[in-house]
Amino acid sequence: MRKKIVAGNWKMNLDFTEGLSLLSEIVHMVKDEVHNDVSIVIASPFIHLQRLVQLAKDNPKISIGAQNCHHQPSGAFTGEISALMLQSIGCQYVIIGHSERRQYFLEDNQLLAQKISVALKNNLIPIYCVGETLQHREQNQYCAIIEEQLKQGIFQLPEAEFSKIIIAYEPVWAIGTGKTANPEQAQEIHAFIREKIAQRYNINIAQQTSILYGGSCNIANAKQLFAQKDIDGGLIGGASLKSRDFLDIIKSF
Ligand code: PGA
Repeated sequence: MRKKIVAGNWKMNLDFTEGLSLLSEIVHMVKDEVHNDVSIVIASPFIHLQRLVQLAKDNPKISIGAQNCHHQPSGAFTGEISALMLQSIGCQYVIIGHSERRQYFLEDNQLLAQKISVALKNNLIPIYCVGETLQHREQNQYCAIIEEQLKQGIFQLPEAEFSKIIIAYEPVWAIGTGKTANPEQAQEIHAFIREKIAQRYNINIAQQTSILYGGSCNIANAKQLFAQKDIDGGLIGGASLKSRDFLDIIKSF
């Protein structure tokens, strides 16, 4: 059985105090209300991470993740954070290749492949994001773009390493826009990604890989999205900043 995961991506939101109180609320609510077997990941800004790890440590359902790491193990890279640093404070996950990193920080598939490799070497679980822009979708190029992101970003990995990866399909046109891919559109891509994994590796690995949907996922649409056979959870931006909404999304399984 593959893992069901709901991950919250806080992006560059919440000051330190706000971040701690949001996680405290989530920890209490999860303890009281979540009785299914879903794993919860909170991807916060770097400076929150260490305290969040401490706050979440008694709840095995909740893990803490970063939103990025540098592609080199260490060195003269002023202002950057390494995978080793994240691992050393108890961070367990890292988002790699979010479309905002691809778009605003010009991170390409080759660079992301390096980030994936350094994250895995430091025992972080990468959540690797793929997804097409509106233009790619309108020009019917979306499958080709996603295939390229998979091939260049993660399909270089040997099977044992690949099996640690989580994939998030996030159509760029749906992120923060209030427009969600409808369940059929999302399912089509999730099935496509799983088929590509089966072709590159094998059917067992494909069946075991968790593929999350992201892009304006909220309490109104989570249930239908999560009911699709190849959707194993969500990567939630805006709706993860409110504890009640985030909890209701988690309970949508
Ligand atoms: P959104 O963001 O839920 O606010 O659309 C999702 C994401 O970017 O991970």
